[in-house]
Amino acid sequence: MKRFMAVVLVLVCVFLFAAQSASAQGKLEIFSWWAGDEGPALQALIDRYSTLYPTIGVVNSTVTGGSGVNARAVLKTRMLGGDPPDSFQVHAGQELIGTWVVAKRMEDLAPLFKSEGWTAKFPAGLVALLSSKGGIWSVPVNIHRSNVLWYLPAKLKEWGVTAPKTWDEFLSTCAALRAKGLQSPLVVGESWTYQHLWESVALGVLGPDDWSALWSGKLKFNDPKAVKVWETFGKVLSYANADASGLSWQQATDRLVKGDAAFNIMGDWAAGYMVTTLKLKPNADFGWAASPGTAGVFMMLSDSFGIPLGVKNHDAAVKWIKLLASKEGQDIFNPLKGSIAARLDSDMTKYNAYSQSAAKDWQSGKIVGSLVHGAVAPESFNSQFGTVMDIFLNGMNAKAAANAAQAIADQVGLGK
Ligand code: GAL
Repeated sequence: MKRFMAVVLVLVCVFLFAAQSASAQGKLEIFSWWAGDEGPALQALIDRYSTLYPTIGVVNSTVTGGSGVNARAVLKTRMLGGDPPDSFQVHAGQELIGTWVVAKRMEDLAPLFKSEGWTAKFPAGLVALLSSKGGIWSVPVNIHRSNVLWYLPAKLKEWGVTAPKTWDEFLSTCAALRAKGLQSPLVVGESWTYQHLWESVALGVLGPDDWSALWSGKLKFNDPKAVKVWETFGKVLSYANADASGLSWQQATDRLVKGDAAFNIMGDWAAGYMVTTLKLKPNADFGWAASPGTAGVFMMLSDSFGIPLGVKNHDAAVKWIKLLASKEGQDIFNPLKGSIAARLDSDMTKYNAYSQSAAKDWQSGKIVGSLVHGAVAPESFNSQFGTVMDIFLNGMNAKAAANAAQAIADQVGLGK
């Protein structure tokens, strides 16, 4: 009996100790769409955080779906329901400024930028993209490039073609490949990847100045120049796979890697996937070029993290933001992610051949912002752009799509 009592006593003590240390532990919930195959870079950052702050338990909440298509909806429900995560992923630019900043739901991080000296550590243009109404609303963890054409050098050699430099050349190369029996030389995935392809076509057809003029409202979507974008887009799509809607962006990349398609246009998270997950070597196993007609132009986007007002674990969230803003944090995350550091002082020896070439283009190229990944247009335009795409895909009518885009631009007051 005595022995039994002693065992009970020990168990009670263990329980009380565990309960006490659990309550003494901190917690941090971060929210993003970097799930599964997209997760390794984020996980490396979380691992570093856990080493630095072993008593803080990190809850890594992810909602699968490339470019945040599903995560944004879940985030909205949580923000409006008064249950914000401690820190969430959001694209630098209008995606945050036009939503949660306008709704006064975000903490102004300008004081942190000042006390930590971050303003001088990031490019001025990027800080401007994160700023509005005198505040700075999130911290950038990377720079991704949207306008990249991916291919396998060995397959192109086998097929006797080279990476096309213009959209006209792209069309003639695809025609040649089809004549050789490759039915769908271009691989596309689910809905948002169509929009991703569209922004590369638009940049190539319009050039950087007219692309930017669309977002400042100076060039109308129904201007003949912009109608031509849809016409070219339609021709490009005629070389794409018929089962696109069933493929995630990773599955589209897999098709390329297997040699079932010659080209894919995707942001450079595809490099992260090919190197980190598929263990392929840049320049040897896969190759890349600026998407047709966009050499010398870098269509950028940046993933950032902000802190909503009233979060449960504010101190832990600030520690998180500080880690991802640090040189160390950025150089842990980006070599795995396929992006380059947003900071100006990152250690490029840690990056592979693809990222080094992207960094060079980032420094020397003309910079424009991505539509699909939140940089140039307000969410009110972005969220309706899918409808414009549907209108186009249903009738392949360039003018109808262009008019629909202009109607939305007018409705949301684009550029005003
Ligand atoms: C982008 C995001 C990238 C990557 C990609 C695919 O919007 O900025 O980091 O996650 O979507 O999901």
